[in-house]
Amino acid sequence: MQESIRIEQIRIEFKKAFGIAPSFIARAPGRVNLIGEHTDYNGGFVLPVAIDRSILIAVAPVIGVRRFELVSLEYNDSVTFEPANLEPVVGKVPLWANYVQGVMWALAQKGLLDLNEPPGARLLIQGDVPRGAGLSSSAALEVASALAFLHLAGSSFEQVQMARACQKAENEYIGVKSGIMDQFISAMGEPDSALLIDTRSLDYRTIPLGLEELGYKIVAVDSAVPRTLAGSAYNKRREECEEAAKILSKQLGLPNRSQLRDISLSDFNEQAETLPETLRMRVRHVITEDARTLEAIERMQAGFTNPANLRRFGELLNASHTSLSDDYEVSCAELDLLVDLAHAVPGVIGARMTGAGFGGCTVNIVAANSLPDFEEKVVQEYRQRTGLNAQSHICKAVRGGEIV
Ligand code: GLA
Repeated sequence: MQESIRIEQIRIEFKKAFGIAPSFIARAPGRVNLIGEHTDYNGGFVLPVAIDRSILIAVAPVIGVRRFELVSLEYNDSVTFEPANLEPVVGKVPLWANYVQGVMWALAQKGLLDLNEPPGARLLIQGDVPRGAGLSSSAALEVASALAFLHLAGSSFEQVQMARACQKAENEYIGVKSGIMDQFISAMGEPDSALLIDTRSLDYRTIPLGLEELGYKIVAVDSAVPRTLAGSAYNKRREECEEAAKILSKQLGLPNRSQLRDISLSDFNEQAETLPETLRMRVRHVITEDARTLEAIERMQAGFTNPANLRRFGELLNASHTSLSDDYEVSCAELDLLVDLAHAVPGVIGARMTGAGFGGCTVNIVAANSLPDFEEKVVQEYRQRTGLNAQSHICKAVRGGEIV
């Protein structure tokens, strides 16, 4: 549904829930990552796109009380809390409201928000980022919450600082040791573009996609595989990378706090045999993925009007999937099936899993005139073979979080 209509609806729902009109609405998008997967917590490069699926939060201050009333339309649930009582939920299954609370906690920890300062507020949340599908619905909720709280307090801040606070909420309040990619792109995304983010320095570049004008679409396909193991397996991968970085940097005489980003492919090849098999596979993925991401940027910048560049871009996406599946072991049979089915459709330039994996979505670059074929041979065929209700989402690249 069009965002302008959703905004009208949330105003109406707010009035129904609280009897007053909201003062403002914060919006933050979900994302797909085109390439650069599981590199962000290794200091590497990522190439995500903010998509036209978002979380909206309508807000009205409550003067004189330091209490927050949250209503979620998606969850049909409400929660009231006081900032003084916020406690991280690490180790527990997080509830939707914990993401909102975690952001308030993290903003305070980072000195961006004073929890003793009134006002309180009423907040009504509505989202159309598919939940648990690996399109960063939680980062979108975090960024929208941060915008809401900071705007409410009249604080001035930089978007990057806000994204880091949201990552802190995810890492330390929720307990998933994610990198910065999702919160960064949700806060900073640019229309019709991807962002190349150097996740170490947080320098970034806007890379115009150049796909729509050539008749190509970004299509996310939700495998409908529940991502229940995602949190713990994700943290495990991160630990493996940190352990491998420690071993390799010692052997190579690099500084103590080096990350896999600092290790070249040739150094890795020389030292590979000294690593246990599992770590060797993990490192091979991370190092080759960084190289693929940088080559993908070169091809984008050289221009997709030359078909050879677009073709190579697709090959890099495909190679990323193979590496994530074989070496990083974060794919699953269903994601592999979606990717295999996509490869068989003429007009598909590239296909890979996107996000953390263990279920969630694939991202596909598809010629617009092949979309009906894609729907039939990928989405419907997958449903038939697995019994799972896959859904495709054609995505447009949009601006990151803002007050609307
Ligand atoms: C999740 C995390 C990101 C990133 C991806 C994998 O989406 O939140 O920080 O690590 O997985 O690339």
